[in-house]
Amino acid sequence: MIGLIQRVLIDHVESHYGEAAVDRIAAQAGVSSPGRRIDTDYDDADTFAFFEAAGDYLELDHEALMTLYADLFINWTRRHYPMFFSMADSAQAFLGRQPAIHVSLGAGIRDPGLRSRVNDKFRVVDQSEGALIVEYRSANGLCSLYRALFARVLEEYAQSGELAETRCRHRGDDRCRFEMTFATGSGSLSGSVA
Ligand code: HEM
Repeated sequence: MIGLIQRVLIDHVESHYGEAAVDRIAAQAGVSSPGRRIDTDYDDADTFAFFEAAGDYLELDHEALMTLYADLFINWTRRHYPMFFSMADSAQAFLGRQPAIHVSLGAGIRDPGLRSRVNDKFRVVDQSEGALIVEYRSANGLCSLYRALFARVLEEYAQSGELAETRCRHRGDDRCRFEMTFATGSGSLSGSVA
């Protein structure tokens, strides 16, 4: 996984609990030095182990960790990649651009095999006014992260919407499919996930 993903979590732990906490989490995860370079692809297994150990340290279950992480992630990306947000004037527009955002970050990876591994994970299947369908295909099965980010992006744009996961790797499908709808007109701060 590209180091940006770990970086957001490592930076949070380091700034709130100190460097020793990062070392403790890394030791529990069995990762000697967790990678956080944004142009480097690290072993997915190490990233997962680090997240799991961080959840234990922070006393959060997986869903709660994803909710916290989504908040940290949007705050971090807003600060470091403001352009991605200014290019989209609504949650739907931002989420519709998300696969392309991923491709643009994957472009920093030199190895063509790794690059396509990053680029092929997400695909916009359909979009129309107030509706967006995205498919996500990855052995990492991080649809929980997608759902948490969906809710956090709605909050960012002060809009409301719903997400139904009509296919899911965790239910035996070969991919996850997110069917999202967005309320048009003035937004309220709510999102719901089925
Ligand atoms: C500025 C916004 C964003 C940036 C910079 C960004 C960047 C990244 C990067 C670098 C990765 C690691 C890719 C890899 O190693 O394969 C990633 C993974 C992921 N992102 Fe994003 N992302 C953004 C927005 C979003 C949004 C809005 C969503 C969902 C609504 C999302 C969902 C995911 C998921 C589910 C993964 C895990 C993919 C996997 O390994 O299976 N991202 N993102």
